[in-house]
Amino acid sequence: MAICLTGGSSPKQLYQLLATDGYRSRIPWDRVHWFIGDERFVPADDPLNNMGTARRIFLDSYAPASNIHPIPTDTANPQEAARRYENKLQSFYGADRLDSTRPLFDVVLMGVGPDGHTASLFPNYPALENTDRWVVEVPTAHVEPFVPRVTLTLPALGSCREMLFEVSGSDKRAILTRVLDGEDLPANRAHSTGETIWLVDKAALPENFRGR
Ligand code: 6PG
Repeated sequence: MAICLTGGSSPKQLYQLLATDGYRSRIPWDRVHWFIGDERFVPADDPLNNMGTARRIFLDSYAPASNIHPIPTDTANPQEAARRYENKLQSFYGADRLDSTRPLFDVVLMGVGPDGHTASLFPNYPALENTDRWVVEVPTAHVEPFVPRVTLTLPALGSCREMLFEVSGSDKRAILTRVLDGEDLPANRAHSTGETIWLVDKAALPENFRGR
């Protein structure tokens, strides 16, 4: 089983929940492989490192080390990190082409940034249009933190049974309004080949929201 985690602050509570007795005991740790949808190009132990956050909160305590698959950030540059992670994903998948009937991931977690980005796919950036590669470098970020990123592309992220967007808090209301209006934003372009589910809390929902 393969789960692709996400960065930012939104998933932290979910990660904390997975570390509690009730959830921890229901996860078949030996059989779950953990990946990450995007990474900030900072050292693994930097507080900004997305996989580092997941590791500190729950992975390092419960997952076998060989089942944790971070995007490397000790490479010469983000291009090299992207190439290496793409190779890793392709060898895990057992092919270098995605087959629409056989998803790469079981679950892909996603968040939405204030500009409508998801993973490190920012509006109008070339990475968003890339359909040949599974992982690419993003030399400059569009929002904080302004560090280079490495991100999975839309086809790689979309190759999953379930894509789960998690959006919470009133500071997400403005961007969620734009997403729900159907604006052409990266978050609206990310779809699973299986199911795409949006988990939104009340504070983030636009006041006049009546369902989609
Ligand atoms: C990252 C993320 C990014 C994130 C959104 C939401 O590396 O920043 O993976 O796509 O999910 O920016 O972030 P917040 O949860 O912090 O609002």
